[in-house]
Amino acid sequence: MKRIIIQFGGTGDLVRTKLYPAYDNLIRKGFDFTTLALGRRFSDRGDFLASMVDSSVSDAFLERLDYLSYDMADPNATDLLHDRLQQIIADNTEIELIYYLALQPSLYEEVINQIQKVDSQVSCACRISKKIVVEKPFGFDLESAERYNEILLKGFSDKEIYRVDHYLGKEFMQNLLILRFHNDIIRKIWDNNSIENIQIIFDETHGVDQRLGFYEKIGVVRDTIQNHIMQIVTYLTMNEPVALTPEDISMEKVKVLRSIAPITDFHMGKYDTLGASSNHEVNTPTYAAFKLSVNTYDFTGIPIYVRTGKMQKEPKSLIYIKFRNTTKKAMHDETIAENGVIITIHPELSIDICMNLKQPNTSWKSKPVRFRFNQAETFGANTPEAYEQIVRKILEGDKSLFPTMQEIKESWRIVVPMLEEDIPLEVYPSRALPSFVAGLSEHDGFTWFA
Ligand code: BG6
Repeated sequence: MKRIIIQFGGTGDLVRTKLYPAYDNLIRKGFDFTTLALGRRFSDRGDFLASMVDSSVSDAFLERLDYLSYDMADPNATDLLHDRLQQIIADNTEIELIYYLALQPSLYEEVINQIQKVDSQVSCACRISKKIVVEKPFGFDLESAERYNEILLKGFSDKEIYRVDHYLGKEFMQNLLILRFHNDIIRKIWDNNSIENIQIIFDETHGVDQRLGFYEKIGVVRDTIQNHIMQIVTYLTMNEPVALTPEDISMEKVKVLRSIAPITDFHMGKYDTLGASSNHEVNTPTYAAFKLSVNTYDFTGIPIYVRTGKMQKEPKSLIYIKFRNTTKKAMHDETIAENGVIITIHPELSIDICMNLKQPNTSWKSKPVRFRFNQAETFGANTPEAYEQIVRKILEGDKSLFPTMQEIKESWRIVVPMLEEDIPLEVYPSRALPSFVAGLSEHDGFTWFA
């Protein structure tokens, strides 16, 4: 079978830095497909390939990488794409076309219409199957997400639609489910009888000025909260699925999402130099801190605190599960620390379980110690990158790492209040946390883990 990935946004940042390396790794591992990159930046394949000389992708990948100068606004665009596809598929008996959209959400509607047109005209004396892959954020809000989906469903079945959230390809996410559901001792303590609060911390050091054109229209809520953060919340709090199948997992995730009320307890800010090199004022949130709760039987009453955003001093990506500290009361010793689980994602994946053990040379004094699992030390450093796992699943036709439309709709519903246009933004200094981060912990009487 001949397989072709038709890469919309083929010269964009995401595709160059994440997708092409993933395609390259998969080709090295024996997957067989070619890529047709579509973009406006280069006039032909020669110029496009010349722009790739600094990347470390293999010749085997470059030989399978074609380019079409594609301007969506050109009335002939769809004819050009159609003609190229016809040439590529000629003389083959079995074809799979994978349309991969890595574009601004504002362009999706138009592109999906163009794909429909091309797709309905492609013909050959062979068997053609197809898939369409759409990058997050899926839609701009709930209403547009539903609209895009309706358009997609005119030309593709739901089974053929892959909605990407690359966090589901990350090893720590998949490990979360294994940690929770393959360990009796964890299952027994993972609920509101034992957990006091959960913290999700995603501080990133980079800013967004290099991709202002994209980010300015998106902001932190659409960029990471509606998708990555909501998916993490579901993995942390869903009940065990009947089996680890896409349908069973999604059923449990949807129950979690449906139990979450729209977020109203939130604060947002933008870093002080945002848009400094553009000649207009940029009013887009780049940082947010908020609280939510999952109102299921097992999790209601556990506050989940989230903070995430750009231009921070240190990269911090971790999840902290803080357990209730009844021991210090029972043992009449205020120095006894609480138990906790820390899942660190960056700089490397590790899971720590915090316990108390005897401090030597003391009389019944304990000291907090950590039992640590380190992914690289245990399994070696070659865990596939998230995008490699995602693309592999697309090629294999396995939808277990893709959010369903129902999950996406519920996630939009939850963040609706954060999408209002005129929310006041705190301007925070680059490399520092906005003041509302400390404000939230003071107000709620908890301490951020980091
Ligand atoms: C992307 C966002 O989806 O995820 C970026 O657009 C963010 O703004 C990135 O930095 C974080 O993903 P990763 O894989 O770098 O942790």
